[in-house]
Amino acid sequence: MADRRPLISGNWKMHHDHFEAIRTLQKLAYRLTNEDAELVDASVHPPFIDIRPLQIVIETDDLPIALGAQNCHWEDKGAFTGEVAPPMLAKMHVSYIICGHSERRELFGETDDDVNRKVKAILKHEMTPILCCGETLEEREAGEAEAKVERQVRAGLDKVKGDQVAGMVIAYEPIWAIGTGRTASSDDAQAMCGTVRRVVADAHGADAAAGVRVQYGGSVKPTNIKELMTMPDIDGALVGGASLDPDDFARIIQFRLQP
Ligand code: 13P
Repeated sequence: MADRRPLISGNWKMHHDHFEAIRTLQKLAYRLTNEDAELVDASVHPPFIDIRPLQIVIETDDLPIALGAQNCHWEDKGAFTGEVAPPMLAKMHVSYIICGHSERRELFGETDDDVNRKVKAILKHEMTPILCCGETLEEREAGEAEAKVERQVRAGLDKVKGDQVAGMVIAYEPIWAIGTGRTASSDDAQAMCGTVRRVVADAHGADAAAGVRVQYGGSVKPTNIKELMTMPDIDGALVGGASLDPDDFARIIQFRLQP
């Protein structure tokens, strides 16, 4: 972590109906202090159906937690049954939208091209994309991890201006570490997050690389976050399973206080 502001994001995936989402958010907020809010940005990314109720709770109680989404379409409106458009999310004051998560790529066939369209649509509506990248175990064992991540980052950011990239977030999530309890070692995570930043520097310039925040994701827990956050190119975390538990997620946001 350099002097970029840390961003810890909770991807709730397909968990929590709107009652559970509200309870989880309130418990999380209860555990966070003013100092946490001064030092760290935190976001939650519930299923679409929970976004409006959480917006009301966040704004009514002035909670220091940003609202996020897990996906969106790239068009503003139209005949796209089942999809949600970026302006609809902007209207609910969504700040961050995850795009190109490995589950969307692998299970729902999202391509690099789709992900690039989403990145540009999110920026157009003045929200922040969290662009995901990461390799499978087979790709890592074949020595292809860097090339895969480089391709995903270049394609995801194609034709995005450098000053916009500077304000973005890129999440490096090795697929073999997601939900497996198997975290990348902090050195491996640093090496790949460093690769992400080098690719950004090469494609979009030094200022973009200095500004972009790079998150690590994959079995992040209260017990491993502190060490990950000491790494120079890791600016935050995209947390799945552990973000469903408000105690664990608060401790991850409070990484500086962990033993
Ligand atoms: P886990 O933290 O459950 O491994 O999930 C990581 C992830 O996919 C976050 O987007």
